[in-house]
Amino acid sequence: MFKQFYDETSSTLTYLLADDTSKQAVLIDPVTDNIDEYLSFIDAAGLALIYSLETHVHADHITGGGKLKNVTQAKTAVSQACGAETADIQLQDGDELTFGNERIKVISTPGHTPGSVSFLWRDRLFTGDSLLINGCGRTDFQGGDAGQLYDAIAGRLFSLPDETLVYPGHDYNGRRVSSIAQEKLINPRLASKTKQEFIDIMKNLNLPKPKMIDIAVPANRKCGVPEPQQG
Ligand code: FE2
Repeated sequence: MFKQFYDETSSTLTYLLADDTSKQAVLIDPVTDNIDEYLSFIDAAGLALIYSLETHVHADHITGGGKLKNVTQAKTAVSQACGAETADIQLQDGDELTFGNERIKVISTPGHTPGSVSFLWRDRLFTGDSLLINGCGRTDFQGGDAGQLYDAIAGRLFSLPDETLVYPGHDYNGRRVSSIAQEKLINPRLASKTKQEFIDIMKNLNLPKPKMIDIAVPANRKCGVPEPQQG
């Protein structure tokens, strides 16, 4: 089972994956404001949420991971390089998480933040803010590094099969899915670009500071809940 959710306020895309036999389910990048929507779907489908995964510490919205854990006992998981000490699982490159008969592989894709990861499930890649449709995450705050991001995308993600579907953490233009082939071919920041050209593009974006960053980043280091969690 696969479902994509959309948060209007932050244009965040959240994903639910579930194993049809065991009914075990996983959420990727849940938003705290929308946990009722996730829980209704999970209930209606008879699923058991066992993991709440983060692609990174977000600057634009607060994660629902901590609240979901309190309601469902789902374990929270985030890269060990994110500095989110209250998460149950500190992910590392190459880790595999199992739900029922399904597996998700962790691919380290630093650059937007040092702890950014992508998740690969079957032929679907969840890229967070590392690789976006026709774009990529910014690299000008939160320890971002354009050279690292180029290596992660061009070196690691673009070596996946062309038909791999790309599901980003955001889209601001109503798009919902891409593929590795499409991003290699037409992503304006990456297609036919050298590493130096990419670094120059990223240096000259001149983006405004995200409105939520001073609230969201500290909250997300605690999985979106004010107090450290038990267990
Ligand atoms: Fe981000």
